[in-house]
Amino acid sequence: MSAGALPTGGASARGGTGATGPTVIRAQGVSKKFVSYHKRATSLKEMIVRRGGLSGEDFWALRDVNVEISRGQTVGLAGANGSGKSTLLKVLAGILRPTSGRVEVNGRIASLLELGAGFNGELSGRDNVYLNASLLGLTKRETDRLFDSIVDFAELRHKIDDEVKHYSSGQYVRLGFAVAVHVDPDILLVDEVLAVGDEAFQRKCLAKIDEFRSQGRTILFVTHSLDLIENMCDRVVVLESGRVIHDGAPAIGTKLLRQRLGSSPTEGSGAFSQATVRPETVTYSSTPGGPTEISYDPGDPLTITVGIEASAGCPPRVGVRCVAVGQHEIPIWVMETPAGGIPITPGFSFLDFTIDRLPALLGAFAVRVEVVDPTTGELITSRRFHDLFGISGSHAEGLVHVSYEARPRA
Ligand SMILES: Nc1ncnc2c1ncn2[C@@H]1O[C@H](COP(=O)(O)OP(=O)(O)OP(=O)(O)O)[C@@H](O)[C@H]1O
Ligand SMILES: [Mg+2]
Repeated sequence: MSAGALPTGGASARGGTGATGPTVIRAQGVSKKFVSYHKRATSLKEMIVRRGGLSGEDFWALRDVNVEISRGQTVGLAGANGSGKSTLLKVLAGILRPTSGRVEVNGRIASLLELGAGFNGELSGRDNVYLNASLLGLTKRETDRLFDSIVDFAELRHKIDDEVKHYSSGQYVRLGFAVAVHVDPDILLVDEVLAVGDEAFQRKCLAKIDEFRSQGRTILFVTHSLDLIENMCDRVVVLESGRVIHDGAPAIGTKLLRQRLGSSPTEGSGAFSQATVRPETVTYSSTPGGPTEISYDPGDPLTITVGIEASAGCPPRVGVRCVAVGQHEIPIWVMETPAGGIPITPGFSFLDFTIDRLPALLGAFAVRVEVVDPTTGELITSRRFHDLFGISGSHAEGLVHVSYEARPRA
């Protein structure tokens, strides 16, 4: 397989998380609206009435989703049924157009989306391999070369000339996955269809995903498995009702998922069963309320301002934790509101975290903001921002200054 040269667009050079390589996927303010009619028009009259003004109900499957994925990251996409995972993958794959917002992709994407996407049931498995591969950008000659390997990977040689509509769901997925991983993608998007395969095939797919990971390719896959999130992902994005409620460390994502899945919205912890308090913005300045600055020296003051949106029904008080994160999502320092939290009312408000003197720790840093219930410590929502600030200085010899002595042993 070739190295899969990435087009070097201006955007990709900017580096998304600041922690790893260039950004290969960037979704900015992506929202997706579906119009749902509760029942189909059953008469001509009804159709005319609808045309004449009665519209269906708007349904927002994605709301203001901001996600940046750097080259080489393995990202899990999680969330309850109907939270928008498949919709997000389809928008990123270019199959659905967002209602608003922008999506940028740098590199060849291969995707294994919902069952049947990219297949034609009337055609044989063989024809579908060619069809699917051509949709993913391969020429006929390239597909000829890969054909045997694809069929062997899918373990479907005995079925390859049957019409795909007679395949079982597992056989469908085998063929789709086999094609997706053979087209030399830079970016692999996988919906949870993998769960349809039998255990042996799932293992084979996971081994393939692992191989892709070690080759530095980018993977975004939907999973409900907390184990997989913890063991395979560098990062997890959790969706709830179309919004990102967590983007960052897998351990925090799984904690949040456990809490969310453990309690149903009706019997759950009331106000906290929905993310009614959300960190929306983060800005850096050297004085509270001052102009935005992103470049600092050790010893400088820094104010990190978090903009928080609270909706009706929000809890009266919340605890807010602001974590400065460095390379590989390592928490560098943590700041927290005092015990008992801070009062919050519906609307937008700002919270300043003021640091008198920045440490002599050089590098580029980002911020993760966690909102917690101040009495139980339960995590309400967590958001990883991609806006960076830098600490630069003259300590060219290393990242930190320590006091030490150099002394030959007597
Ligand atoms: N074409 C469509 N028209 C109307 N509503 C849609 C359409 N596609 C998805 N939806 C709705 O959008 C919401 C998000 O759907 P989506 O399939 O993205 O969820 P999901 O997180 O993938 O769920 P699951 O875990 O069940 O696969 C759901 O409420 C779904 O009913
Ligand atoms: Mg889905």
